[in-house]
Amino acid sequence: MANHPPFAKRSALITGAASGIGAATARWLDKQGTRHLTLIDLDAQGLARLNLSCEVTAIAGDVADPNLWTVLEPKLGQLDHAIINAGIADAGPLNEISIDDWRRVTGVNLDGAFLALATCLRVMRSHDASGSVVVVASATGIKPVPGTGAYGVTKAAVAHMARIAAAENAAHNIRVNAIAPGGVDTPIWDSSEAFREAAARYGRDASLKAMAASTPRGRFADAEEIAHQIGFLLSEDAANITGHVLVSDGGYTL
Ligand code: NAI
Repeated sequence: MANHPPFAKRSALITGAASGIGAATARWLDKQGTRHLTLIDLDAQGLARLNLSCEVTAIAGDVADPNLWTVLEPKLGQLDHAIINAGIADAGPLNEISIDDWRRVTGVNLDGAFLALATCLRVMRSHDASGSVVVVASATGIKPVPGTGAYGVTKAAVAHMARIAAAENAAHNIRVNAIAPGGVDTPIWDSSEAFREAAARYGRDASLKAMAASTPRGRFADAEEIAHQIGFLLSEDAANITGHVLVSDGGYTL
């Protein structure tokens, strides 16, 4: 019998695929011989730069736009895996967050994740095949850290959404898990003004190291190691794992 790579003939959809964890997961799945990737991001140029060897459908769009999903759903065809990953960060105590900022963060991180997950589940169920999904949550959705405001709330919500989806879809042979990373060295940090100021003053690596110093393992992850862990949850090695939130945080939540 031919020995195919584990992801050969499979197709996957990744949101937020142009950068960081999403891009690393796209590269990981490409290396595993995945047949087709549907990659979605606001950043069309970032998607084009990925330069993968598998078949790619790159879609420049906003995951929080319901119309994107309405148009995409009938075109998706066979879908074996989904990585619900697009997200934005914001910080500030609850008493200072404006309703506009709250809606901006929940719009992408929660509404966008819901739209992506619901669409992918409908497509997977319509093909009556097995599938697996990973939702990218965050350790800030587990540990109530002051200042993680709207962001942490959305990340707690998407982890719970993954568990509800797992319960609803186990009988349809679809597994749904979440991963809750602690700090990961990706461009998301550069969207924070406070981080940019620290990086300008002390250097980017030193600023990341200073933040990591307060975690038990004293380190940030890199996007590639989170991608490997997402790959494990997607794979047949995790065939009996569903509704799990894999905390990958160097002990941050301890
Ligand atoms: P990143 O900023 O490198 O990548 C996020 C990608 O999502 C970007 O390419 C961005 O253009 C895209 N995106 C943002 N809003 C979008 C929208 N409305 N529609 C489509 N695409 C959109 O960040 P990173 O770190 O790779 O983040 C990926 C996920 O991991 C996020 O959900 C984030 O909250 C989560 N996470 C990141 C951690 C970290 O320390 N980097 C820690 C825990 C969770």
